[in-house]
Amino acid sequence: MVLDLTKYIAAIPDYPEKGVVFRDISPLMADGAAYREATNKIVEYAKSKDVEMIVGPEARGFIVGCPVAYDLGVGFAPARKKGKLPRETVEAKYALEYGESALYMHKDAVKPGQRVLVTDDLLATGGTIAATIELVEKLGGIVVGTAFFIELDDLKGRNKIEDYDIFSLMNY
Ligand code: PRP
Ligand code: ADE
Repeated sequence: MVLDLTKYIAAIPDYPEKGVVFRDISPLMADGAAYREATNKIVEYAKSKDVEMIVGPEARGFIVGCPVAYDLGVGFAPARKKGKLPRETVEAKYALEYGESALYMHKDAVKPGQRVLVTDDLLATGGTIAATIELVEKLGGIVVGTAFFIELDDLKGRNKIEDYDIFSLMNY
């Protein structure tokens, strides 16, 4: 089936603050056929890259990455916000619009040399995905690609990860 996936993305003006158009993937996730089609497209991309492991940042990176990992029969490792992981971690800091945040992964989450696909729902400024890539590389993983449901072209996130392959299903 070929669906127009853009029909399943809600645009909410001025959320969470004035001037931002929030692109909400929940209608896509709520529709079984649309969620499956979006997932299948990323699965095909992952197959072309011989992916051995998927990594996604909290929280929406899990929504994209976990069904892809399940379909491929590979593992999924989360990159989480502060204070969520119980064992030894590595840290990557990144800039937010105001201030700074950080993501963490367990030290044994990725094996050295493993071919990793990094997933998220949306590429905006690229800070989140760049921090996730940094974590994977600190663990010795090889980032063979990045995949998103949505890329916001105006925010130029792809410039922050220009050395990496980017696969986006929808561009705004
Ligand atoms: C959103 C989105 C991406 C990130 C993109 O996550 O899911 O992870 O922002 O923005 P960037 O490219 O400018 O970094 P958010 O931090 O809102 O967290 P959530 O997934 O837990 O809602
Ligand atoms: N994360 C960062 N910018 C976003 C946007 N415009 N819509 C949804 N999630 C986002």
